[in-house]
Amino acid sequence: MIGNDIIDLALARKESNWQRKGFLDKIFTKNEQLMILNSINPEVMVWNLWSRKEAAYKIYNRQTGIRGYFPLQLECSDLKIRNQIIFGKVSIKDNVYFTKTVITKQFVNTISLEKIDDFNAIKQLNNREGIIKINGIPNCFGKCNLASRPVSISHHGEFEQIISI
Ligand SMILES: CC(C)(COP(=O)(O)OP(=O)(O)OC[C@H]1O[C@@H](n2cnc3c(N)ncnc32)[C@H](O)[C@@H]1OP(=O)(O)O)[C@@H](O)C(=O)NCCC(=O)NCCS
Repeated sequence: MIGNDIIDLALARKESNWQRKGFLDKIFTKNEQLMILNSINPEVMVWNLWSRKEAAYKIYNRQTGIRGYFPLQLECSDLKIRNQIIFGKVSIKDNVYFTKTVITKQFVNTISLEKIDDFNAIKQLNNREGIIKINGIPNCFGKCNLASRPVSISHHGEFEQIISI
């Protein structure tokens, strides 16, 4: 299972004011708010945690069929930086997903997985050829067989990412 999320930082700055009253309380748990407020770049930490939650939700929704907007139930933890890539976990109820986040000056991009070993098996797709959505969730059907592979799509502003395993 796979999920992704990409955030165009310039657009996010225009669309949302993370410093507005009540914004952090609606979306981030107490521990996450501490991570934001203790960060050297709180704004980027906001989008870093947000993209983790969205990427993890895409797996959770695929696995359970549960849809909704429940940011406080998706809790980010265990952030660790290795070679400028941030690894971590997102938990919701009894489910734990592994996340990998890349941050540049232009975007924040998270890939989430159910199995940590699958980070080595991620493929970037260049277009939507073979992708069919079932209940709004994308899957890729190969040309020669009927088996489907999970796909995740994210786009925001200038950026789009389509991935599969
Ligand atoms: C559905 C949702 C995940 C889409 O995320 P988004 O950041 O608005 O948009 P993205 O570009 O990243 O993703 C959209 C793509 O994901 C795919 N998608 C849509 N719903 C999906 C789902 N439930 N599961 C997996 N993929 C989904 C689609 O392919 C869609 O692109 P397309 O319509 O062009 O084909 C989001 O709107 C949502 O409902 N989140 C709720 C979860 C939550 O509580 N989030 C808190 C954030 S802090």
